[in-house]
Amino acid sequence: MNNSPVSEHISFTPMTLEMLPSILVIENQAYPIPWSVQTFKDCITKDYVCKLMLLKGQVIGYHIVQVILDEYHILNICVSKDYQGKGFGKYQLQAIKDKAESELMNRILLEVRASNKTAKNLYLKSGFQQIGKRKNYYPISDGREDAFVLELALG
Ligand SMILES: CC(C)(COP(=O)(O)OP(=O)(O)OC[C@H]1O[C@@H](n2cnc3c(N)ncnc32)[C@H](O)[C@@H]1OP(=O)(O)O)[C@@H](O)C(=O)NCCC(=O)NCCS
Repeated sequence: MNNSPVSEHISFTPMTLEMLPSILVIENQAYPIPWSVQTFKDCITKDYVCKLMLLKGQVIGYHIVQVILDEYHILNICVSKDYQGKGFGKYQLQAIKDKAESELMNRILLEVRASNKTAKNLYLKSGFQQIGKRKNYYPISDGREDAFVLELALG
């Protein structure tokens, strides 16, 4: 884990169905097209890695990872709007990377909206590389947009 100044009061805990109302508040504020409650329920019940990030006990973010053989697929990584831009996204991504390395994963994969410059910057700064593009992958309010496929090779 990194030694960033934010690390002292941060902890991670499994996401539970009871926490979904609070998670949805964060999700709805953070994304233009948020996940539904059903999508979160599916991830939790399918045993994906679903973790809340707490700052002094308060939920300020979360991530959901699907493990496929020796690959981590990040399906959702989010920081509450009020806490964005303060290093918590970087910290959370580093925590995912540390766990993947400790479990001897081969790589981490994710998709990011072409328009999501903040997230793409975070991933590129964290060592991810673009390995593909999915045309018209994501819905937007008036059509569809491309997804970039990013990879972080481990090991
Ligand atoms: C994407 C997200 C997780 C990043 O977390 P964050 O806490 O805001 O980001 P951090 O403060 O840790 O910054 C990490 C890097 O992101 C980039 N970044 C952060 N804010 C940015 C902004 N406003 N504009 C451009 N790049 C930005 C920078 O590269 C930054 O690194 P630097 O500070 O060394 O320059 C967060 O903004 C978020 O939850 N957004 C909404 C949900 C989302 O889009 N999730 C990703 C789906 S693929």
